[in-house]
Amino acid sequence: MGVFDSGVGGLTVLHECLVTMPHEDFVYLGDHARLPYGPRPLEEVRRFAREIGAYLQGQGVKLVVNACNTATSAALPQLQAELDVPVVGVITPEAHAAVQATRNRRIGLLATEGTVAAGRYAELVHALDAGVELVAVACPRLVPLIESDDPFGAETTEAVREYAARLKDAEVDTVILGCTHYPLIKPIFQRVFGRDVELVFSADETARKVAETLARKGYENDVDREGSYRFLTTGDPEAFREMGARFLQLPVAEVEHVELAELGVTA
Ligand code: DGL
Repeated sequence: MGVFDSGVGGLTVLHECLVTMPHEDFVYLGDHARLPYGPRPLEEVRRFAREIGAYLQGQGVKLVVNACNTATSAALPQLQAELDVPVVGVITPEAHAAVQATRNRRIGLLATEGTVAAGRYAELVHALDAGVELVAVACPRLVPLIESDDPFGAETTEAVREYAARLKDAEVDTVILGCTHYPLIKPIFQRVFGRDVELVFSADETARKVAETLARKGYENDVDREGSYRFLTTGDPEAFREMGARFLQLPVAEVEHVELAELGVTA
């Protein structure tokens, strides 16, 4: 299977996939040369996602996981229309889980600027339950803080508190953490929101959806075998290896560099 993200954040999704489907083979591509996607125009992110989707399909994968919330917001329908293999994104599984979980039908969303601007979560949530109110807050400070040397520092807690305040005022009982990086600071979110608010993460919901898709289509590998995983980056392999283990929580061995030109990028 091919899994991609703008950087290492999607490794939280890969982690759940590896745990849920240890018999499958994975190739993960991080587009570090063009990270971050969050503040970029959606049109540009859509182009990046299409280049990577076509590249992974060319590597012979049987399914593509778009493990970036911003890229899923920008390009999931286009990828599904263009590729021959099934494409699973990170937004639909979370929207489903959130609609199922909410009791007061008020759901909060924390995500990048691009994801909030795209409005895909609101569309999906309303397709499932038109009576749900979705309150979305863009969190531009969080990705850089989570990637910093001190992700659990006071500044991160302060930023989470600031972004959470609007959702608390709106009395949401369920919050979608709609960005690949956010599972890394799960304890901070849990402490700020308290036990009465249900937190929905993309990683576990998406892995469940991928496993279900493979099973229903009959695409699963033999469950007795042990699968492999390997890494590609458009950026610096050494930096990927260092940061990657933190996000994957499993060993990150070989990381190969891929030139943007190999993705068909000419500019
Ligand atoms: N992967 C992005 C997402 O999930 C976060 C990092 C970025 O902005 O590129 O939205």
